[in-house]
Amino acid sequence: MTCGAAGRAALLTAALLAAALPAGAAEGTAVFRLCMACHAIARDTGQMTGPSLWAIVGRPAGSVPGFAYSPAMRHSGIVWDEDTLDRFLADPRRVVPANRMAFPGVRRAEDRRALIDFLKQAPR
Ligand code: HEC
Repeated sequence: MTCGAAGRAALLTAALLAAALPAGAAEGTAVFRLCMACHAIARDTGQMTGPSLWAIVGRPAGSVPGFAYSPAMRHSGIVWDEDTLDRFLADPRRVVPANRMAFPGVRRAEDRRALIDFLKQAPR
């Protein structure tokens, strides 16, 4: 599959998710566009820059089988819940120093809230 096709597939997935989710989730879908270059939330995303965010809320950090995490992420001891995700997404470098996610964070608390709600509600 070419990059262009993958990109279109990702956009289509976001559009379908937006249609399938309850009202209010659309905002989270919009914020998730910031993540889509590197992450998908399907269970098996194939080769991407970041690990799948499938069922991320409730699982330990660094637990997607086969993904080459940084030692920092693998040994962070974090279990992702609303609180740890909120803190990580506000400032990834501070919460998990030396992690490999090249992303500065989501500054607005409302955006993080919408995003985390979206991740919680995503089909699994
Ligand atoms: C430039 C690519 C990139 C972008 C953009 C990005 N990430 Fe990441 N993300 C990564 C990589 C790479 C890792 C693995 C980091 C490591 O192993 O240190 C990661 C790890 C994570 C993890 C930990 C996953 C796990 O299995 O423990 C979460 C949660 C996460 N990202 C959420 C997000 C969210 C939400 C966004 C959008 C707001 C986002 N990321 C944007 C590349 C990215």
